Amino acid sequence: MIVRKEATQTGRELCPLSEKDIMAFRSMVYGYYHTYGRILPWRNTQNPYHILVSEIMLQQTQVHRCLEKYTRFIERFPDFVSLASAPFQEILSHWQGLGYNRRALALKRIAQEVLHTYKGKLPAQRSCLMTLPSIGKATAASILAFAFNKPGIVIETNIRAAYIYTFFRTKTMVKDSELLPFIECTLDKQNPREWYYALMDYGADIKKRHPSITRQSAHYKKQSPFHGSDRQIRGKILKVLTKRKHVTFKYLFKEIQGNIERIRRILKTLMEEGFIIKKTGYYTLKK
Ligand code: ADE
Repeated sequence: MIVRKEATQTGRELCPLSEKDIMAFRSMVYGYYHTYGRILPWRNTQNPYHILVSEIMLQQTQVHRCLEKYTRFIERFPDFVSLASAPFQEILSHWQGLGYNRRALALKRIAQEVLHTYKGKLPAQRSCLMTLPSIGKATAASILAFAFNKPGIVIETNIRAAYIYTFFRTKTMVKDSELLPFIECTLDKQNPREWYYALMDYGADIKKRHPSITRQSAHYKKQSPFHGSDRQIRGKILKVLTKRKHVTFKYLFKEIQGNIERIRRILKTLMEEGFIIKKTGYYTLKK
């Protein structure tokens, strides 16, 4: 797409695109979506709880890996009440395979907070959402768009790909702050829910066809290898604890193997983060 020099003054930012360019971009994205858009279970609902669960899952896990886990998670924990009162051990066993287990703990805490502070209803204000664990700017904006159809700025990997490919094709180290005016002025404020579904699918397709596009973002982070990482050991410890209620250090060490000091350090972190407790020489998952 050719970016015209004449800029349009919109609400907050100086829009770098003309009206015509905005329309051309939107119809390209919607055109793609209406033909190839993905049918995903978390799009078949406007239930804020379901959307919260999916957005937390999708933060660090790819769509295809979330698909099966999401459905089983929602079947077992269908609402805030069931999640808030569920034993953490069970939540964690439904989270197995998604990685980054902190998110499972965060979801339980969010459910408790929603019941305690918001009478069981997920708040529809950005400032309230952002006080909840694991919800930053981008997740708050996604939840607002998908659950409440409220416009805001969503920036994630597929969306970066869509804008970098269209407007910054040859540039490297593209900052989110450079994309922001483009995202803001092309946003379909009448229908942010549909717009962001479309944009994510369009961007996902660009990433498939041009995998190197993600590296043009200044915020690109190569995932560190899982094998041999602290993340892997954390996962192993939590897996043992989802199967057996109380275990000694000796038992854990036998199951996990590796460097004894490293295991001790990771156990300490897990205790500090509120995942596990140690009582009379036994480690156990928090309730
Ligand atoms: N649909 C709704 N939210 C999504 C996300 N975060 N990633 C991909 N597709 C989605």
